[in-house]
Amino acid sequence: MSEKEKDELLIKGHDYDGIQELNNPLPGWWLMTFYITIVFAVVYYSYYTFFGGPTSDEELAQKMSVIQSEQQIAEESAPVKSADDYVALLDNPEVLEKGKAEYMLKCMACHGDKGQGLIGPNFADEYWIHGDGSVSAILEVANDGVLDKGMPPWKGVIPEETLEAVAVYIYSLQGTNPEGARPPQGEKVERN
Ligand code: HEC
Repeated sequence: MSEKEKDELLIKGHDYDGIQELNNPLPGWWLMTFYITIVFAVVYYSYYTFFGGPTSDEELAQKMSVIQSEQQIAEESAPVKSADDYVALLDNPEVLEKGKAEYMLKCMACHGDKGQGLIGPNFADEYWIHGDGSVSAILEVANDGVLDKGMPPWKGVIPEETLEAVAVYIYSLQGTNPEGARPPQGEKVERN
């Protein structure tokens, strides 16, 4: 910086024990940004405070309702397996194997190694406490559980497809007459 430039910037009369002060203006782009933030703050504050802008709670509620409606659409448009689809799985040894393996890990403790029942009800008879003993009814109880009766919900614990295989396996147990079977519980349901 030349002496002349320095002289122009010098703030006259600001001399403290020989220490002088220069007036270095802030760059235009910086000031502009600063002014924009002020304008933004005023507009933002007024919108949310005086002109009915939504509160955080309202924004959350609105976004949750969007999520819920999308979930509903997804659920409604998801392909629902029919009873026939499930019965077809009964002929698939891979599905039965997979279902049995998971059953032995997660269900056997309460329902017995052959579905004869233990803490939980017998799967080998024609009696059902919940639903009609169809694969989809079994799946529903398996997903949601019966909390107050000690049947845990498995949704999210066992992957959907695996749980489906377990339900198919359970369905296949009816009529196997395992030893030590627990007495029937619930309503008798005829299989057609
Ligand atoms: C901690 C013990 C326990 C475990 C583990 C358990 N269950 Fe159960 N389950 C129960 C009990 C208890 C009931 C009876 C609920 C009732 O009385 O309403 C039951 C009921 C059921 C029923 C309904 C039976 C009916 O007669 O309507 C199904 C289906 C079922 N369980 C599936 C499963 C599957 C599948 C698994 C493994 C992924 C499993 N359960 C693991 C305790 C258990």
